[in-house]
Amino acid sequence: MNNNDKTTGKVAGVISNLVIVEVDGPVSQNEICFIKHPEADLMAEVIKILGRNAYVQVFESTRGLKVGVPVVFDGHMLEVTLGPGILSKNYDGLQNDLNKMDGVFLKRGEYTDPLDRDVLWDFSPIAKPGDRVTAGDWIGEVAENSMPHKIMLPFKMQQDYTVRSVAAAGRYRVDDTIAVVADAEGREHAVTMAVRAYRNKPRPFRLLETGVRCMDTLNPITEGGTGFIPGPFGTGKTVLQHAISQQAEADVVIIAACGERANEVVEVFNEFPHLDDPRTGRKLMERTVIIANTSNMPVAAREASVYTAMAIGEYYRAMGLRVLLMADSTSRWAQALREMSNRLEELPGQDAFPMDLSSIVSNFYSRAGYVYLNNGATGSITFIGTVSPAGGNLKEPVTESTRKAARCFYGLSQTRADSKRYPAVDAIESYSKYLEYPEVQAYLAEKVGPDWLGQVLEAKDILLRSKEAKEQINILGDDGVPIEFHERFWHGELIDFVILQQDAFDKIDASTPLERQKYMLDKVLAVNHAKLKFEGFDDVRDRYKQIINLFKQMNYSEFKSEQFCRLEAQIDELIK
Ligand SMILES: Nc1ncnc2c1ncn2[C@@H]1O[C@H](COP(=O)(O)OP(=O)(O)OP(=O)(O)O)[C@@H](O)[C@H]1O
Ligand SMILES: [Mg+2]
Repeated sequence: MNNNDKTTGKVAGVISNLVIVEVDGPVSQNEICFIKHPEADLMAEVIKILGRNAYVQVFESTRGLKVGVPVVFDGHMLEVTLGPGILSKNYDGLQNDLNKMDGVFLKRGEYTDPLDRDVLWDFSPIAKPGDRVTAGDWIGEVAENSMPHKIMLPFKMQQDYTVRSVAAAGRYRVDDTIAVVADAEGREHAVTMAVRAYRNKPRPFRLLETGVRCMDTLNPITEGGTGFIPGPFGTGKTVLQHAISQQAEADVVIIAACGERANEVVEVFNEFPHLDDPRTGRKLMERTVIIANTSNMPVAAREASVYTAMAIGEYYRAMGLRVLLMADSTSRWAQALREMSNRLEELPGQDAFPMDLSSIVSNFYSRAGYVYLNNGATGSITFIGTVSPAGGNLKEPVTESTRKAARCFYGLSQTRADSKRYPAVDAIESYSKYLEYPEVQAYLAEKVGPDWLGQVLEAKDILLRSKEAKEQINILGDDGVPIEFHERFWHGELIDFVILQQDAFDKIDASTPLERQKYMLDKVLAVNHAKLKFEGFDDVRDRYKQIINLFKQMNYSEFKSEQFCRLEAQIDELIK
Protein backbone atom coordinates (compact mmCIF):
# COMPACT_ATOMS: atom_id res chain seq x y z
CA MET A 1 0.00 0.00 0.00
CA ASN A 2 1.52 3.36 -0.84
CA ASN A 3 1.02 6.48 1.17
CA ASN A 4 -1.69 7.82 -1.12
CA ASP A 5 -4.08 4.97 -0.29
CA LYS A 6 -3.80 5.58 3.41
CA THR A 7 -6.52 7.28 5.38
CA THR A 8 -5.33 10.56 6.78
CA GLY A 9 -6.76 13.02 9.26
CA LYS A 10 -6.17 16.09 11.34
CA VAL A 11 -5.97 16.50 15.08
CA ALA A 12 -9.24 18.06 16.24
CA GLY A 13 -8.78 17.88 19.99
CA VAL A 14 -6.29 16.79 22.62
CA ILE A 15 -7.26 15.51 26.05
CA SER A 16 -3.97 14.47 27.63
CA ASN A 17 -3.02 11.30 25.75
CA LEU A 18 -6.46 10.88 24.17
CA VAL A 19 -6.50 12.64 20.82
CA ILE A 20 -9.53 13.19 18.64
CA VAL A 21 -8.74 12.97 14.95
CA GLU A 22 -11.06 14.07 12.18
CA VAL A 23 -10.56 11.54 9.41
CA ASP A 24 -11.12 11.68 5.67
CA GLY A 25 -11.63 7.97 5.04
CA PRO A 26 -12.24 4.59 6.61
CA VAL A 27 -10.49 3.65 9.86
CA SER A 28 -10.97 0.58 11.95
CA GLN A 29 -11.03 -0.16 15.64
CA ASN A 30 -7.51 -0.79 17.03
CA GLU A 31 -5.86 0.50 13.85
CA ILE A 32 -2.48 2.16 14.35
CA CYS A 33 -1.82 5.74 13.26
CA PHE A 34 1.04 8.18 13.44
CA ILE A 35 0.52 11.78 14.50
CA LYS A 36 2.96 13.98 12.61
CA HIS A 37 4.07 16.09 15.57
CA PRO A 38 6.73 18.57 14.42
CA GLU A 39 9.26 17.03 16.82
CA ALA A 40 8.55 13.36 16.19
CA ASP A 41 5.95 10.95 14.79
CA LEU A 42 3.76 9.81 17.67
CA MET A 43 2.29 6.32 17.51
CA ALA A 44 -1.34 5.92 18.55
CA GLU A 45 -4.11 3.32 18.49
CA VAL A 46 -7.74 3.90 17.55
CA ILE A 47 -9.91 3.05 20.56
CA LYS A 48 -13.24 4.53 19.53
CA ILE A 49 -14.86 5.80 16.34
CA LEU A 50 -17.73 8.24 16.30
CA GLY A 51 -18.84 9.42 12.88
CA ARG A 52 -15.88 11.19 11.25
CA ASN A 53 -13.94 11.34 14.52
CA ALA A 54 -11.48 8.69 15.59
CA TYR A 55 -10.48 8.69 19.25
CA VAL A 56 -6.91 7.53 19.50
CA GLN A 57 -4.75 6.80 22.51
CA VAL A 58 -1.23 8.06 22.06
CA PHE A 59 1.61 5.96 23.38
CA GLU A 60 3.75 9.05 23.94
CA SER A 61 3.52 12.38 25.66
CA THR A 62 1.34 14.76 23.64
CA ARG A 63 3.12 17.83 24.97
CA GLY A 64 3.07 20.63 22.41
CA LEU A 65 0.54 18.90 20.16
CA LYS A 66 -1.79 21.32 18.39
CA VAL A 67 -5.10 21.11 16.58
CA GLY A 68 -4.62 20.68 12.84
CA VAL A 69 -1.53 18.45 12.97
CA PRO A 70 -1.79 15.79 10.24
CA VAL A 71 -2.29 12.13 11.08
CA VAL A 72 -1.61 9.09 8.87
CA PHE A 73 -3.37 5.79 9.49
CA ASP A 74 -1.33 2.70 8.98
CA GLY A 75 -3.99 0.22 7.86
CA HIS A 76 -2.99 -2.43 10.38
CA MET A 77 -3.46 -3.17 14.03
CA LEU A 78 -0.88 -3.14 16.76
CA GLU A 79 1.40 -6.05 15.96
CA VAL A 80 4.23 -7.88 17.60
CA THR A 81 7.30 -8.98 15.66
CA LEU A 82 8.28 -12.59 16.24
CA GLY A 83 11.44 -14.41 15.23
CA PRO A 84 14.80 -15.58 16.50
CA GLY A 85 16.59 -13.15 18.77
CA ILE A 86 13.73 -12.25 21.13
CA LEU A 87 15.12 -14.12 24.11
CA SER A 88 17.48 -12.16 26.35
CA LYS A 89 16.19 -8.80 25.03
CA ASN A 90 14.66 -5.98 27.08
CA TYR A 91 11.55 -4.44 25.54
CA ASP A 92 9.06 -1.75 26.42
CA GLY A 93 5.33 -2.37 26.01
CA LEU A 94 5.45 -1.50 22.31
CA GLN A 95 8.26 -4.00 21.80
CA ASN A 96 10.91 -1.34 21.32
CA ASP A 97 14.33 -2.75 22.00
CA LEU A 98 15.48 -0.73 24.98
CA ASN A 99 19.14 -1.56 24.44
CA LYS A 100 19.05 0.14 21.05
CA MET A 101 17.81 3.41 22.50
CA ASP A 102 20.18 6.25 23.18
CA GLY A 103 20.67 7.55 26.69
CA VAL A 104 18.89 6.74 29.89
CA PHE A 105 15.52 8.24 29.04
CA LEU A 106 13.34 7.16 26.18
CA LYS A 107 13.06 9.79 23.53
CA ARG A 108 9.62 10.71 22.33
CA GLY A 109 8.67 9.20 19.01
CA GLU A 110 11.68 6.92 18.89
CA TYR A 111 10.82 3.39 17.81
CA THR A 112 13.45 0.72 17.50
CA ASP A 113 13.49 -2.60 15.74
CA PRO A 114 12.61 -5.48 18.03
CA LEU A 115 14.87 -7.87 16.13
CA ASP A 116 18.48 -7.61 14.99
CA ARG A 117 18.28 -7.80 11.23
CA ASP A 118 21.99 -8.33 10.60
CA VAL A 119 22.67 -11.27 12.87
CA LEU A 120 23.31 -14.54 11.06
CA TRP A 121 21.47 -17.54 12.47
CA ASP A 122 22.43 -21.18 12.02
CA PHE A 123 19.49 -22.63 10.17
CA SER A 124 18.72 -26.29 9.60
CA PRO A 125 15.68 -27.36 7.55
CA ILE A 126 12.90 -29.59 8.90
CA ALA A 127 10.37 -29.52 6.04
CA LYS A 128 11.23 -30.93 2.62
CA PRO A 129 10.10 -29.88 -0.84
CA GLY A 130 6.72 -31.51 -1.55
CA ASP A 131 5.58 -31.47 2.12
CA ARG A 132 2.05 -30.21 2.79
CA VAL A 133 2.11 -27.51 5.45
CA THR A 134 -0.39 -25.28 7.29
CA ALA A 135 -0.01 -22.40 9.71
CA GLY A 136 2.21 -23.31 12.66
CA ASP A 137 3.97 -26.20 10.94
CA TRP A 138 7.73 -26.33 11.47
CA ILE A 139 9.79 -25.38 8.43
CA GLY A 140 13.17 -25.40 10.10
CA GLU A 141 15.09 -24.61 13.21
CA VAL A 142 17.77 -22.21 14.38
CA ALA A 143 19.70 -22.20 17.63
CA GLU A 144 18.58 -19.16 19.62
CA ASN A 145 21.22 -18.98 22.33
CA SER A 146 21.03 -22.63 23.34
CA MET A 147 17.31 -23.03 22.64
CA PRO A 148 16.11 -24.75 19.48
CA HIS A 149 13.92 -22.05 17.90
CA LYS A 150 11.37 -23.40 15.43
CA ILE A 151 10.70 -21.44 12.26
CA MET A 152 7.00 -21.96 11.62
CA LEU A 153 4.70 -21.23 8.76
CA PRO A 154 3.23 -17.85 9.87
CA PHE A 155 -0.14 -18.07 11.64
CA LYS A 156 -1.55 -15.55 9.19
CA MET A 157 -1.02 -17.93 6.25
CA GLN A 158 -4.49 -19.28 6.01
CA GLN A 159 -4.56 -22.18 3.60
CA ASP A 160 -2.87 -25.46 2.83
CA TYR A 161 0.48 -25.02 1.17
CA THR A 162 2.98 -27.24 -0.56
CA VAL A 163 6.64 -26.65 0.15
CA ARG A 164 8.50 -25.78 -3.09
CA SER A 165 11.93 -25.28 -1.60
CA VAL A 166 13.66 -24.96 1.74
CA ALA A 167 17.01 -23.25 2.23
CA ALA A 168 19.93 -25.58 2.80
CA ALA A 169 21.51 -25.69 6.24
CA GLY A 170 23.58 -22.56 6.67
CA ARG A 171 23.69 -19.07 8.13
CA TYR A 172 20.87 -16.64 7.30
CA ARG A 173 19.47 -13.29 8.43
CA VAL A 174 15.90 -13.05 9.79
CA ASP A 175 14.65 -11.40 6.58
CA ASP A 176 16.23 -13.91 4.23
CA THR A 177 13.85 -16.28 2.48
CA ILE A 178 14.28 -19.69 4.07
CA ALA A 179 11.43 -21.43 2.25
CA VAL A 180 9.05 -20.97 -0.64
CA VAL A 181 5.57 -22.48 -0.39
CA ALA A 182 2.79 -22.60 -2.96
CA ASP A 183 -0.93 -22.29 -2.24
CA ALA A 184 -3.70 -24.29 -3.93
CA GLU A 185 -3.74 -21.90 -6.91
CA GLY A 186 0.00 -22.34 -7.34
CA ARG A 187 0.89 -18.83 -6.14
CA GLU A 188 4.25 -18.81 -4.40
CA HIS A 189 4.91 -17.22 -1.02
CA ALA A 190 8.31 -16.57 0.51
CA VAL A 191 8.75 -17.47 4.17
CA THR A 192 11.25 -15.63 6.34
CA MET A 193 12.17 -16.12 9.96
CA ALA A 194 10.51 -12.90 11.17
CA VAL A 195 6.72 -12.70 11.26
CA ARG A 196 4.24 -10.19 12.58
CA ALA A 197 1.17 -11.14 14.62
CA TYR A 198 -1.70 -9.20 16.18
CA ARG A 199 -1.29 -8.38 19.82
CA ASN A 200 -4.91 -8.01 20.81
CA LYS A 201 -7.79 -10.47 20.79
CA PRO A 202 -10.65 -8.66 19.09
CA ARG A 203 -13.37 -7.40 21.38
CA PRO A 204 -16.89 -8.66 20.71
CA PHE A 205 -19.21 -5.96 19.42
CA ARG A 206 -22.24 -7.58 17.76
CA LEU A 207 -25.35 -8.20 19.81
CA LEU A 208 -26.46 -11.78 20.34
CA GLU A 209 -30.24 -11.57 20.21
CA THR A 210 -31.87 -13.87 22.73
CA GLY A 211 -35.49 -12.77 22.46
CA VAL A 212 -35.50 -12.35 26.24
CA ARG A 213 -36.41 -8.72 26.84
CA CYS A 214 -34.70 -8.18 30.19
CA MET A 215 -31.47 -9.23 28.51
CA ASP A 216 -31.62 -7.78 24.99
CA THR A 217 -33.18 -4.49 25.99
CA LEU A 218 -31.57 -3.72 29.32
CA ASN A 219 -28.39 -5.78 29.58
CA PRO A 220 -27.47 -7.21 26.19
CA ILE A 221 -24.88 -9.91 25.67
CA THR A 222 -22.66 -9.91 22.59
CA GLU A 223 -21.67 -12.63 20.17
CA GLY A 224 -18.58 -14.06 21.80
CA GLY A 225 -19.48 -12.54 25.15
CA THR A 226 -19.69 -14.11 28.58
CA GLY A 227 -22.44 -13.94 31.14
CA PHE A 228 -23.71 -15.73 34.19
CA ILE A 229 -26.99 -16.25 35.94
CA PRO A 230 -26.72 -16.62 39.70
CA GLY A 231 -29.90 -17.41 41.56
CA PRO A 232 -31.10 -19.24 44.65
CA PHE A 233 -32.80 -22.61 44.21
CA GLY A 234 -35.96 -22.57 42.17
CA THR A 235 -35.74 -18.97 40.99
CA GLY A 236 -35.79 -19.89 37.31
CA LYS A 237 -32.19 -20.40 36.18
CA THR A 238 -32.97 -23.50 34.18
CA VAL A 239 -36.11 -22.06 32.60
CA LEU A 240 -34.22 -18.91 31.58
CA GLN A 241 -31.34 -20.86 30.10
CA HIS A 242 -33.69 -23.04 28.13
CA ALA A 243 -35.48 -19.99 26.80
CA ILE A 244 -32.18 -18.52 25.67
CA SER A 245 -31.01 -21.78 24.11
CA GLN A 246 -34.22 -22.12 22.12
CA GLN A 247 -34.40 -18.58 20.89
CA ALA A 248 -30.93 -17.12 20.63
CA GLU A 249 -29.59 -16.20 17.25
CA ALA A 250 -26.85 -18.84 17.27
CA ASP A 251 -25.87 -21.41 14.65
CA VAL A 252 -24.96 -24.11 17.14
CA VAL A 253 -26.24 -24.47 20.69
CA ILE A 254 -24.44 -26.61 23.24
CA ILE A 255 -26.13 -27.34 26.54
CA ALA A 256 -24.03 -28.79 29.32
CA ALA A 257 -26.31 -30.02 32.08
CA CYS A 258 -23.81 -30.34 34.84
CA GLY A 259 -24.95 -32.04 38.02
CA GLU A 260 -28.60 -31.11 37.51
CA ARG A 261 -31.58 -33.29 38.39
CA ALA A 262 -31.97 -36.27 36.11
CA ASN A 263 -35.70 -35.68 35.58
CA GLU A 264 -35.07 -32.13 34.32
CA VAL A 265 -32.47 -33.40 31.90
CA VAL A 266 -34.81 -36.14 30.70
CA GLU A 267 -37.36 -33.40 30.11
CA VAL A 268 -34.86 -31.62 27.87
CA PHE A 269 -34.19 -34.82 25.97
CA ASN A 270 -37.90 -35.30 25.44
CA GLU A 271 -38.71 -31.69 24.72
CA PHE A 272 -35.98 -30.56 22.35
CA PRO A 273 -36.58 -33.02 19.51
CA HIS A 274 -40.11 -31.59 19.16
CA LEU A 275 -39.21 -27.91 19.19
CA ASP A 276 -39.23 -26.01 15.95
CA ASP A 277 -36.47 -23.61 15.14
CA PRO A 278 -38.24 -20.31 14.49
CA ARG A 279 -35.40 -19.12 12.27
CA THR A 280 -35.03 -22.06 9.92
CA GLY A 281 -38.36 -23.84 10.30
CA ARG A 282 -36.47 -27.06 10.96
CA LYS A 283 -36.11 -28.89 14.25
CA LEU A 284 -34.14 -27.10 16.94
CA MET A 285 -32.38 -30.32 17.84
CA GLU A 286 -30.62 -30.31 14.47
CA ARG A 287 -28.31 -27.57 15.70
CA THR A 288 -28.19 -28.52 19.36
CA VAL A 289 -25.86 -30.75 21.36
CA ILE A 290 -26.80 -31.79 24.87
CA ILE A 291 -24.09 -32.96 27.20
CA ALA A 292 -25.69 -34.46 30.25
CA ASN A 293 -24.03 -35.25 33.49
CA THR A 294 -26.80 -35.47 36.02
CA SER A 295 -26.51 -35.34 39.78
CA ASN A 296 -26.59 -39.12 40.10
CA MET A 297 -23.66 -39.66 37.74
CA PRO A 298 -20.09 -39.80 39.11
CA VAL A 299 -18.92 -36.44 40.37
CA ALA A 300 -15.58 -36.49 38.59
CA ALA A 301 -17.26 -36.70 35.21
CA ARG A 302 -18.91 -33.32 35.83
CA GLU A 303 -15.59 -31.67 35.50
CA ALA A 304 -15.07 -33.33 32.16
CA SER A 305 -18.53 -32.37 30.88
CA VAL A 306 -17.99 -28.60 30.76
CA TYR A 307 -14.63 -29.03 29.05
CA THR A 308 -16.14 -31.43 26.54
CA ALA A 309 -18.79 -28.83 25.80
CA MET A 310 -16.20 -26.09 25.34
CA ALA A 311 -14.02 -28.23 23.09
CA ILE A 312 -17.00 -29.01 20.84
CA GLY A 313 -17.81 -25.31 20.83
CA GLU A 314 -14.29 -24.39 19.75
CA TYR A 315 -14.49 -26.93 16.97
CA TYR A 316 -17.63 -25.33 15.50
CA ARG A 317 -16.32 -21.83 16.09
CA ALA A 318 -13.32 -22.70 13.94
CA MET A 319 -15.82 -23.35 11.13
CA GLY A 320 -16.92 -19.74 11.32
CA LEU A 321 -20.13 -20.44 13.23
CA ARG A 322 -21.79 -18.65 16.10
CA VAL A 323 -21.81 -21.04 19.02
CA LEU A 324 -23.86 -20.54 22.15
CA LEU A 325 -22.67 -22.56 25.11
CA MET A 326 -24.77 -22.90 28.23
CA ALA A 327 -23.71 -24.65 31.42
CA ASP A 328 -26.22 -25.42 34.15
CA SER A 329 -24.88 -25.25 36.78
CA THR A 330 -21.27 -24.22 37.14
CA SER A 331 -21.64 -24.50 40.92
CA ARG A 332 -21.94 -28.25 40.57
CA TRP A 333 -18.85 -28.23 38.38
CA ALA A 334 -17.01 -26.33 41.12
CA GLN A 335 -18.24 -28.91 43.63
CA ALA A 336 -16.61 -31.59 41.53
CA LEU A 337 -13.37 -29.61 41.56
CA ARG A 338 -13.70 -29.34 45.32
CA GLU A 339 -14.24 -33.03 45.76
CA MET A 340 -11.20 -33.96 43.69
CA SER A 341 -9.03 -31.36 45.35
CA ASN A 342 -10.01 -32.65 48.79
CA ARG A 343 -9.25 -36.21 47.81
CA LEU A 344 -5.85 -35.14 46.61
CA GLU A 345 -5.41 -33.58 50.04
CA GLU A 346 -4.57 -30.20 48.54
CA LEU A 347 -4.49 -27.19 50.80
CA PRO A 348 -8.13 -26.03 50.81
CA GLY A 349 -9.17 -22.48 49.99
CA GLN A 350 -12.35 -20.71 51.05
CA ASP A 351 -15.25 -23.12 51.74
CA ALA A 352 -12.84 -25.96 50.90
CA PHE A 353 -12.82 -25.07 47.18
CA PRO A 354 -9.41 -25.33 45.51
CA MET A 355 -7.17 -22.34 46.20
CA ASP A 356 -7.00 -21.52 42.50
CA LEU A 357 -10.77 -21.76 41.89
CA SER A 358 -10.96 -18.24 40.53
CA SER A 359 -8.23 -18.82 37.95
CA ILE A 360 -9.83 -22.13 36.91
CA VAL A 361 -13.13 -20.31 36.39
CA SER A 362 -11.59 -17.38 34.53
CA ASN A 363 -9.52 -19.65 32.31
CA PHE A 364 -12.68 -21.42 31.34
CA TYR A 365 -14.59 -18.21 30.63
CA SER A 366 -11.71 -16.83 28.60
CA ARG A 367 -12.07 -19.69 26.12
CA ALA A 368 -15.27 -18.02 24.96
CA GLY A 369 -14.82 -15.15 22.55
CA TYR A 370 -15.03 -13.69 19.11
CA VAL A 371 -12.25 -14.75 16.74
CA TYR A 372 -11.01 -13.99 13.26
CA LEU A 373 -10.26 -17.20 11.44
CA ASN A 374 -7.31 -17.68 9.15
CA ASN A 375 -9.37 -16.90 6.09
CA GLY A 376 -10.78 -13.69 7.52
CA ALA A 377 -14.17 -15.18 8.46
CA THR A 378 -15.34 -14.81 12.06
CA GLY A 379 -16.61 -17.25 14.63
CA SER A 380 -17.75 -16.93 18.19
CA ILE A 381 -18.50 -18.79 21.38
CA THR A 382 -20.91 -17.02 23.68
CA PHE A 383 -20.88 -18.60 27.11
CA ILE A 384 -23.59 -18.30 29.74
CA GLY A 385 -23.30 -20.29 32.95
CA THR A 386 -25.66 -20.52 35.88
CA VAL A 387 -24.49 -20.43 39.46
CA SER A 388 -26.57 -21.73 42.35
CA PRO A 389 -25.21 -20.02 45.44
CA ALA A 390 -26.35 -21.83 48.58
CA GLY A 391 -28.92 -19.74 50.39
CA GLY A 392 -28.67 -17.03 47.74
CA ASN A 393 -25.39 -15.84 49.25
CA LEU A 394 -23.68 -13.94 46.42
CA LYS A 395 -20.47 -13.68 48.44
CA GLU A 396 -19.67 -17.38 48.20
CA PRO A 397 -16.51 -18.34 46.26
CA VAL A 398 -18.07 -19.64 43.02
CA THR A 399 -20.21 -16.53 42.50
CA GLU A 400 -17.34 -14.23 43.44
CA SER A 401 -14.92 -15.98 41.08
CA THR A 402 -17.43 -15.98 38.25
CA ARG A 403 -18.21 -12.30 38.75
CA LYS A 404 -14.56 -11.53 38.05
CA ALA A 405 -14.58 -13.51 34.82
CA ALA A 406 -18.00 -12.93 33.20
CA ARG A 407 -18.95 -9.60 31.66
CA CYS A 408 -22.73 -9.88 32.05
CA PHE A 409 -24.49 -10.53 35.32
CA TYR A 410 -28.12 -11.62 35.37
CA GLY A 411 -28.94 -11.95 39.06
CA LEU A 412 -32.17 -13.77 39.88
CA SER A 413 -33.97 -12.50 42.93
CA GLN A 414 -35.85 -14.65 45.41
CA THR A 415 -38.34 -11.85 46.06
CA ARG A 416 -39.18 -11.55 42.38
CA ALA A 417 -39.51 -15.31 42.01
CA ASP A 418 -41.74 -15.47 45.10
CA SER A 419 -44.06 -12.85 43.63
CA LYS A 420 -44.04 -14.74 40.30
CA ARG A 421 -42.34 -11.92 38.43
CA TYR A 422 -40.63 -14.12 35.86
CA PRO A 423 -37.93 -14.13 34.60
CA ALA A 424 -36.83 -13.15 38.10
CA VAL A 425 -33.82 -11.16 36.86
CA ASP A 426 -33.25 -8.20 39.15
CA ALA A 427 -32.84 -5.43 36.59
CA ILE A 428 -31.27 -3.03 39.06
CA GLU A 429 -28.58 -5.39 40.35
CA SER A 430 -27.83 -6.90 36.92
CA TYR A 431 -25.44 -5.42 34.42
CA SER A 432 -23.84 -5.87 31.04
CA LYS A 433 -20.38 -4.37 30.71
CA TYR A 434 -20.79 -4.53 26.93
CA LEU A 435 -23.12 -1.53 27.11
CA GLU A 436 -20.04 0.54 27.97
CA TYR A 437 -18.06 -0.63 24.93
CA PRO A 438 -18.02 2.15 22.32
CA GLU A 439 -18.16 -0.41 19.50
CA VAL A 440 -21.27 -2.04 21.05
CA GLN A 441 -22.88 1.37 21.47
CA ALA A 442 -22.15 2.17 17.85
CA TYR A 443 -23.57 -1.19 16.79
CA LEU A 444 -26.76 -0.62 18.79
CA ALA A 445 -27.17 2.89 17.36
CA GLU A 446 -26.89 1.48 13.87
CA LYS A 447 -28.92 -1.69 14.36
CA VAL A 448 -31.70 -0.52 16.72
CA GLY A 449 -31.67 3.25 16.52
CA PRO A 450 -29.57 6.27 17.42
CA ASP A 451 -31.71 7.02 20.48
CA TRP A 452 -31.72 3.42 21.77
CA LEU A 453 -28.91 3.59 24.33
CA GLY A 454 -30.41 6.73 25.83
CA GLN A 455 -33.78 5.01 26.14
CA VAL A 456 -32.24 1.98 27.79
CA LEU A 457 -30.44 4.13 30.34
CA GLU A 458 -33.65 6.05 30.95
CA ALA A 459 -35.56 2.81 31.57
CA LYS A 460 -32.92 1.70 34.08
CA ASP A 461 -33.17 5.05 35.81
CA ILE A 462 -36.96 4.83 36.00
CA LEU A 463 -36.68 1.36 37.58
CA LEU A 464 -34.27 2.62 40.20
CA ARG A 465 -36.36 5.67 41.06
CA SER A 466 -39.47 3.51 41.22
CA LYS A 467 -37.79 1.24 43.74
CA GLU A 468 -36.83 4.25 45.88
CA ALA A 469 -40.37 5.62 45.68
CA LYS A 470 -41.74 2.24 46.74
CA GLU A 471 -39.52 2.18 49.81
CA GLN A 472 -40.64 5.65 50.79
CA ILE A 473 -44.30 4.81 50.30
CA ASN A 474 -43.80 1.73 52.47
CA ILE A 475 -42.30 3.81 55.27
CA LEU A 476 -44.54 6.86 55.12
CA GLY A 477 -47.77 5.28 53.94
CA ASP A 478 -49.86 5.91 50.82
CA ASP A 479 -51.12 9.24 52.13
CA GLY A 480 -47.82 10.31 53.61
CA VAL A 481 -46.09 11.02 50.29
CA PRO A 482 -46.87 13.41 47.43
CA ILE A 483 -48.73 11.95 44.48
CA GLU A 484 -45.57 12.16 42.31
CA PHE A 485 -44.11 9.35 44.39
CA HIS A 486 -46.98 7.10 43.34
CA GLU A 487 -46.53 8.10 39.72
CA ARG A 488 -42.81 7.42 39.95
CA PHE A 489 -43.50 4.01 41.47
CA TRP A 490 -45.97 3.07 38.72
CA HIS A 491 -43.62 4.26 35.96
CA GLY A 492 -41.24 1.55 37.11
CA GLU A 493 -44.00 -1.02 37.51
CA LEU A 494 -45.04 -0.37 33.92
CA ILE A 495 -41.54 -1.20 32.67
CA ASP A 496 -41.41 -4.19 35.00
CA PHE A 497 -44.69 -5.70 33.82
CA VAL A 498 -44.33 -4.92 30.13
CA ILE A 499 -40.61 -5.22 29.43
CA LEU A 500 -39.03 -7.26 32.23
CA GLN A 501 -41.71 -9.85 32.84
CA GLN A 502 -42.05 -12.38 30.10
CA ASP A 503 -43.93 -15.64 29.99
CA ALA A 504 -41.47 -18.34 28.97
CA PHE A 505 -44.36 -20.71 28.31
CA ASP A 506 -46.41 -18.56 25.92
CA LYS A 507 -45.87 -19.09 22.23
CA ILE A 508 -45.76 -15.40 21.37
CA ASP A 509 -44.49 -13.78 24.55
CA ALA A 510 -41.61 -16.24 25.01
CA SER A 511 -39.46 -14.68 22.32
CA THR A 512 -39.45 -11.01 21.34
CA PRO A 513 -37.44 -9.94 18.30
CA LEU A 514 -35.33 -6.82 18.78
CA GLU A 515 -37.52 -4.74 16.49
CA ARG A 516 -40.53 -5.47 18.66
CA GLN A 517 -38.52 -4.76 21.83
CA LYS A 518 -37.71 -1.32 20.46
CA TYR A 519 -41.36 -0.73 19.57
CA MET A 520 -42.52 -1.69 23.06
CA LEU A 521 -39.90 0.39 24.86
CA ASP A 522 -40.86 3.40 22.71
CA LYS A 523 -44.47 2.88 23.66
CA VAL A 524 -43.82 2.39 27.38
CA LEU A 525 -41.63 5.48 27.57
CA ALA A 526 -44.26 7.47 25.67
CA VAL A 527 -46.82 6.50 28.32
CA ASN A 528 -44.40 7.47 31.07
CA HIS A 529 -43.74 10.82 29.38
CA ALA A 530 -47.44 11.60 29.00
CA LYS A 531 -48.59 14.32 31.38
CA LEU A 532 -51.50 12.57 33.07
CA LYS A 533 -53.76 14.21 35.67
CA PHE A 534 -54.67 12.11 38.70
CA GLU A 535 -57.27 12.61 41.43
CA GLY A 536 -55.41 10.70 44.13
CA PHE A 537 -53.05 7.82 44.67
CA ASP A 538 -55.72 5.19 44.08
CA ASP A 539 -56.52 6.85 40.78
CA VAL A 540 -52.83 6.51 39.82
CA ARG A 541 -52.89 2.84 40.74
CA ASP A 542 -56.15 2.05 38.97
CA ARG A 543 -55.23 3.80 35.73
CA TYR A 544 -51.75 2.29 35.57
CA LYS A 545 -53.16 -1.16 36.29
CA GLN A 546 -55.55 -0.66 33.42
CA ILE A 547 -52.73 0.41 31.10
CA ILE A 548 -50.51 -2.47 32.23
CA ASN A 549 -53.32 -4.90 31.57
CA LEU A 550 -53.67 -3.68 27.99
CA PHE A 551 -49.91 -3.83 27.47
CA LYS A 552 -49.76 -7.40 28.75
CA GLN A 553 -52.40 -8.42 26.26
CA MET A 554 -50.32 -6.72 23.58
CA ASN A 555 -47.36 -8.88 24.62
CA TYR A 556 -49.52 -11.95 24.08
CA SER A 557 -50.68 -10.79 20.63
CA GLU A 558 -48.99 -11.26 17.28
CA PHE A 559 -46.84 -8.19 16.50
CA LYS A 560 -48.85 -5.53 14.63
CA SER A 561 -51.84 -7.84 14.31
CA GLU A 562 -55.34 -6.42 14.36
CA GLN A 563 -55.67 -7.19 18.06
CA PHE A 564 -52.28 -5.68 18.80
CA CYS A 565 -53.23 -2.43 17.07
CA ARG A 566 -56.61 -2.30 18.77
CA LEU A 567 -54.99 -2.65 22.20
CA GLU A 568 -52.48 0.01 21.30
CA ALA A 569 -55.28 2.38 20.29
CA GLN A 570 -56.97 1.76 23.64
CA ILE A 571 -53.75 2.71 25.44
CA ASP A 572 -53.45 5.86 23.32
CA GLU A 573 -57.00 6.74 24.31
CA LEU A 574 -56.12 6.39 28.02
CA ILE A 575 -53.13 8.69 27.87
CA LYS A 576 -54.71 11.43 25.80
N1 LIG B 1 -39.90 -17.28 32.78
C1 LIG B 1 -40.74 -18.04 33.52
N2 LIG B 1 -42.06 -18.04 33.25
C2 LIG B 1 -42.90 -18.78 34.00
N3 LIG B 1 -42.52 -19.54 35.02
C3 LIG B 1 -41.23 -19.60 35.35
C4 LIG B 1 -40.26 -18.83 34.61
N4 LIG B 1 -39.06 -19.05 35.16
C5 LIG B 1 -39.24 -19.92 36.18
N5 LIG B 1 -40.54 -20.25 36.31
C6 LIG B 1 -41.09 -21.15 37.34
O1 LIG B 1 -40.12 -21.41 38.35
C7 LIG B 1 -39.88 -22.81 38.49
C8 LIG B 1 -38.45 -23.11 38.85
O2 LIG B 1 -37.60 -22.73 37.77
P1 LIG B 1 -36.19 -23.45 37.49
O3 LIG B 1 -36.32 -24.92 37.58
O4 LIG B 1 -35.67 -22.87 36.26
O5 LIG B 1 -35.35 -22.93 38.74
P2 LIG B 1 -33.80 -23.18 39.00
O6 LIG B 1 -33.28 -21.87 39.45
O7 LIG B 1 -33.16 -23.82 37.85
O8 LIG B 1 -33.86 -24.16 40.21
P3 LIG B 1 -32.70 -25.12 40.78
O9 LIG B 1 -31.78 -24.22 41.54
O10 LIG B 1 -33.46 -26.01 41.68
O11 LIG B 1 -32.08 -25.77 39.62
C9 LIG B 1 -40.31 -23.38 37.16
O12 LIG B 1 -40.73 -24.69 37.27
C10 LIG B 1 -41.45 -22.47 36.74
O13 LIG B 1 -42.66 -22.88 37.32
MG1 LIG C 1 -32.17 -25.61 37.59
